Amino acid sequence: MGVRVRIPATTANLGPGFDTFGMALSLYNTLEVDWGNRGLQISATGNGTHLLPTDETNTVYLAIKEVFAKTGKEVLLQERGLTISIHNQVPVTRGLGSSATAIVGGLWAANELLGYPLSETELVEMAVKMEGHPDNVTSAVYGGIVVSGLLDHSVYVRRFSPPSGMKCVVAVPDFQLATRTSRNALPSAVPYADAIHNLNRASMMVAALADGDLHMFCSLMEDKLHELYRMPLVPGSKEAIARARQAGALSAVLSGSGPSLIAFCESDEESIGEAMQEGFRNMGVEAEIYRLTPVEQGVASLSCIS
Ligand code: HSE
Repeated sequence: MGVRVRIPATTANLGPGFDTFGMALSLYNTLEVDWGNRGLQISATGNGTHLLPTDETNTVYLAIKEVFAKTGKEVLLQERGLTISIHNQVPVTRGLGSSATAIVGGLWAANELLGYPLSETELVEMAVKMEGHPDNVTSAVYGGIVVSGLLDHSVYVRRFSPPSGMKCVVAVPDFQLATRTSRNALPSAVPYADAIHNLNRASMMVAALADGDLHMFCSLMEDKLHELYRMPLVPGSKEAIARARQAGALSAVLSGSGPSLIAFCESDEESIGEAMQEGFRNMGVEAEIYRLTPVEQGVASLSCIS
């Protein structure tokens, strides 16, 4: 009997919450995993799947293997074989948590296939270790808006419901930007005043979340620790953000490590999307627009496939 899991896209950082804030979005990748009879078979359909390997280096498979190894069941992978079907809506390597969907999906599917030998806490810790930072994986697991970090090797997570009325317009430029490249653009030290700015904004954003105050939450999104250094890697981003604001967005920031941008609003999604597209186009970059909402539900088992 196989399993099917659905994992949401995520946007990390939300401006000043670098490596700390994440939010789940209404765009999904789905995985079906079942025992096979001819070794490993992986198929992938949907957004950007031509970029994904379908051999043992596939991230979904690597995550599945971690669960089998941790539970002492690795031999079953050889004995029984495995069939993995991947259906992707989330663009690959664009700052919308596609690798987190693969890691979380693989871990959750394998755990279900084996009859739930591992706890949620164990799976989250494995996911954070594989991804390297907690923001995308914790929001893909818990949904909503998640503030998370590592504390003495354990993952601390506080989840909030997104402020009501929040809508999102995501502009996805037609080029990839690897997180590693985007992290390499960061300086080794920042001015003291910039660190204080982010500390202040990120802390107040948590207070705004506790109050469910959408306008306050969005008005605090100016970042000084990473966007400034990353924007040059995303031609048109500065103009697209300025135009989104002119068109009525409450705020607009880099989604995760980019290159996608995410604008937050209560309405006017169509004109905000067009404005962002125009901003990119002026720099010769085509961008696809996604009108999304935050979602409360993180990774979910959809059903058993007999
Ligand atoms: N917080 C990470 C970064 C997210 O900004 O590098 C990567 O998706």
